[in-house]
Amino acid sequence: LNIALLAGGNSSEREVALASAAMILDAFDRSRYNVIPVDVHGLHWTCKGAGDRKVEVDKTDFSVPVGDGKIRFDYAFIMIHGTPGEDGKLQGYLEMMGIPYSTSGFVSSVETFDKTLCKRIVSEIDGLCLAREVLLRRGDRVDADAIAARLGLPVFVKPNASGSSCGVTKVKSVADMVPAIERAFTESDAVLIEEFIEGREFGCGVWITADGIRALPVTEIKSHKEFFDYEAKYTAGMSDEITPAEIPAAATVRIQRLAEAAAKACNCRGIVRVDFIMTPTGDIYMVEINSVPGMSGGSIVPKQIAAAGLNMTEVINAVIEDTLC
Ligand code: DAL
Ligand code: MG
Repeated sequence: LNIALLAGGNSSEREVALASAAMILDAFDRSRYNVIPVDVHGLHWTCKGAGDRKVEVDKTDFSVPVGDGKIRFDYAFIMIHGTPGEDGKLQGYLEMMGIPYSTSGFVSSVETFDKTLCKRIVSEIDGLCLAREVLLRRGDRVDADAIAARLGLPVFVKPNASGSSCGVTKVKSVADMVPAIERAFTESDAVLIEEFIEGREFGCGVWITADGIRALPVTEIKSHKEFFDYEAKYTAGMSDEITPAEIPAAATVRIQRLAEAAAKACNCRGIVRVDFIMTPTGDIYMVEINSVPGMSGGSIVPKQIAAAGLNMTEVINAVIEDTLC
């Protein structure tokens, strides 16, 4: 089986995605699969050819030239956060080409990457809370006083479709609202402003196959910064990620069941990670679903896979087998 490991991408998460892909490549079972990393950068999709020369993927048949011939890829393992690997674009291309792939489907990817849309889809889940929000589209008039009156302060200003907290600001005053909104618009065509939910933060991986759904152990995230921003996420020592989370067993099970319900409501496939905040009174708020969660050395899901007693190579094999047909 010739597998393209699709890496990189065009978003602010490119570096993170390259780190995730390097980790996955290390764990790949090469006795079973011929895996070729492909750097997807805009319309240039390149692999290393002979003598480390870059060769372009032919997108008309999803192949790569080798010597006088070519290798056609049979399968795509998508390890790109943000666009185009997590927002449905690559999934759409691969579906048109009839190539199976490792992630949630096209529609599911579109739905989960759009934070406000995802919240609407999971809103019927029993016992799942969602932060109140204001959504702004490009060109909308911004009334910072009205937003603060409606949601209180502080608020989180986020790009509606992005990841790794790129372009996210915790806004504590009306005066800081407009610059934060402008910053978020550099990442996304819509900006989501959410009320601040005080509580402890958790992430829970979920593995969805044709046979069923399985939550991984829960991780508590303790950021040493004001919130779990890009720097806290990717700088060693800037946060503690405790796996399994040190919370009562009943709380773990509630988070796991809600993570499964959210992944199911969005028809996810493969491995996703659902992020939550639990308030001191025990209310559980879903923050978002990551359909291509971080898989780099410091990332959360690899720790959950290890804590579950699973082996990354076997998980990769099982994800591929499950999504092949
Ligand atoms: N968006 C980052 C990679 C994550 O969800 O882990
Ligand atoms: Mg995210």
